[in-house]
Amino acid sequence: PVISILNGPNLNMLGTRQPELYGRETLSDIETLCRGHAATRGMTVEFRQSNYEGELVTWIQETRGRAAGLILNAGAYTHTSVAILDALLAAEVPTVEVHLSNIHQRDSFRHHSYVAQAAKGMICGFGSHGYILALDALARLIKGNSE
Ligand code: DQA
Repeated sequence: PVISILNGPNLNMLGTRQPELYGRETLSDIETLCRGHAATRGMTVEFRQSNYEGELVTWIQETRGRAAGLILNAGAYTHTSVAILDALLAAEVPTVEVHLSNIHQRDSFRHHSYVAQAAKGMICGFGSHGYILALDALARLIKGNSE
């Protein structure tokens, strides 16, 4: 099974971006981590990042009928984008929402997520390990579907 992992705006800056919040790992480190872990679960990963809302919308649309699962860290678009919510509803792919930081301990404008409305669940506050937890959650969901 193919798992699409999509990352939104400013996540290309990981490593140097507010390390006290987001850690010192780069997005490329997280990609390596995800590929390694997915392989142990018999899954393949497609890993992408964009600063453009429309590009994320297109990539989400393209998961339909092709990806077995989606892991989405939509960055700040999480809190603003009805277009991303609509793309998720159209794609109908099991989605796990991930945030490195615990968005509920932060500014109140980060407490609401449009992504959450279309996701199976959300993992936040565990840094890069959240992506691993999300892969495990999807592995279990996919297995459940095929039994
Ligand atoms: C984030 C949380 C968002 O509120 C923020 O805008 C980000 C990163 C996270 O991974 O913790 O860009 O999605």
